[in-house]
Amino acid sequence: MQIDLASKPYAEIEADALISYVFEEPHPLQGRIAEIDRAAGGLLARLAQSGELTGKPLEMTLVHAPAGLRATRLLLVGAGKREKFDTTALRRIAGAAVRHMKARSMKQLAFLVQEKEVTEQSAQAIVEGALAADFEPDKYKTERNGKSVSAIVLAGYEEAQRVFGEKGLSRGRVIAEAQNFVRDLVNEPSNKLTPRVLAAKAQAMAKDAGLSVEILDENKIAELRMGALLSVAQGSVEPPRVIVVTYTPPTTKSGAPVIGLVGKAVTFDTGGISIKPADGMEKMKYDMAGGATMLGVMRALSILKPNVKVICIVPSTENMPGGKAQKPGDVQTAMSGKTIEVLNTDAEGRLILADGIHYAKQLGATHLIDAATLTGAIVVALANVNVGVFGSDQAFTDRLLGSAKAVGEKMWPMPVDDDYREFIKGTSADIQNIGSGKGGGAITGAMFLKEFSGETPWIHLDIAGTAWLDEQKPWLAKGASGIAVRTLINLIMSY
Ligand code: BES
Ligand code: MN
Ligand code: ZN
Repeated sequence: MQIDLASKPYAEIEADALISYVFEEPHPLQGRIAEIDRAAGGLLARLAQSGELTGKPLEMTLVHAPAGLRATRLLLVGAGKREKFDTTALRRIAGAAVRHMKARSMKQLAFLVQEKEVTEQSAQAIVEGALAADFEPDKYKTERNGKSVSAIVLAGYEEAQRVFGEKGLSRGRVIAEAQNFVRDLVNEPSNKLTPRVLAAKAQAMAKDAGLSVEILDENKIAELRMGALLSVAQGSVEPPRVIVVTYTPPTTKSGAPVIGLVGKAVTFDTGGISIKPADGMEKMKYDMAGGATMLGVMRALSILKPNVKVICIVPSTENMPGGKAQKPGDVQTAMSGKTIEVLNTDAEGRLILADGIHYAKQLGATHLIDAATLTGAIVVALANVNVGVFGSDQAFTDRLLGSAKAVGEKMWPMPVDDDYREFIKGTSADIQNIGSGKGGGAITGAMFLKEFSGETPWIHLDIAGTAWLDEQKPWLAKGASGIAVRTLINLIMSY
């Protein structure tokens, strides 16, 4: 999609539609909208009077051939109450408008930003919303509907505002493309995306982006004694991989923080011998969303160039019930040396992350963040609305939650205090991979991971409820959501 700042006043832009937004207030026609209304001879005022134009959130009012505009249509999107308006609302407005227009085969759009919102952040949010909204999971359809917006111009930025407008625009593009990169990987079915294929795609991405990359194969993984990862992989004929991607900033001081990103990439989770029910099992292709998220973040960082070193570790395997599969009760030794009693082979994500987290520390990470579709229990706790955030360091966790708020991704703090430690105490090994039937399943998973992060400040994001949309949103197609990409980029850019 071509995205530019407009070089003409909005009234002179030729497009299939000029898009703008109105607030839900007694007089919805304010500022530039009032100007458009005057040029159109009070057309919008009549719509407002009849109750067709109210400004309610994401209300769509499409007007054809409005007088005073060169664009062939005018789309006004409801922005809701002015007090509640922010960049998150603007991102959704842009996204919903793009999906509304592309469903009607519109190709060339112009988006008019109101005076008060002419900022760098607005340009960024609109571009993020538009690009994410244009994404469709139709890769394997032989007749793709071909409906895609080809160009958007951003209007409302004066000459003196162009520099920051362009800045927001290009940052928005980088972030949205990272998010769509993740969604594309996550939507892939498991027969097309095995651990080896994921590793090859990660390697290609890293090479393109100028990031250093290393792929550990099954031999190297065994040499490193990643026993927890290998225990999951042994049930499959597909060999595991560990993807290591590193971003090094132009200048580094000794003693500077090193961020370790660890993402779960189970390319398909059958549950193993503790097999899952057939109903809905097809969704377990998205059990690699955490790993894909981290790769997408790295892709963006290669362009945005933060001032901090970032190491990304993605352990990847299938979880299958093959003849060599591990069995409930088996005892495994993780890379760290801790022994684990595998009481349920379906609690496999924490096993592969145990070795991933340990390896990230060994490579020098001083701050750890993992992302994983770890538990069904997080869906019970927070539904598909909030990401569950578990953290061992309050300041670090607060910083991440601040980033989440700033970029409009919903995340909610969950506890990981010592009172939960007994949930994972082992009978015949150091720890066990599931709790002993006391509820708190998402916390139990987090407590298990905490055994491996140890004293290093660590955050765990349980994205099981939020990485996949069963239904489309007005601003996003169904399927992979790309959740947490924006938050992690925002957090890392703050260093
Ligand atoms: N990948 C699943 C978690 C999951 C569930 C992701 C639903 C997305 C949607 C994970 O490996 C798993 O199976 N967890 C078990 C843990 C249990 C055995 C303690 C679960 O949540 O049931
Ligand atoms: Mn599982
Ligand atoms: Zn899983």
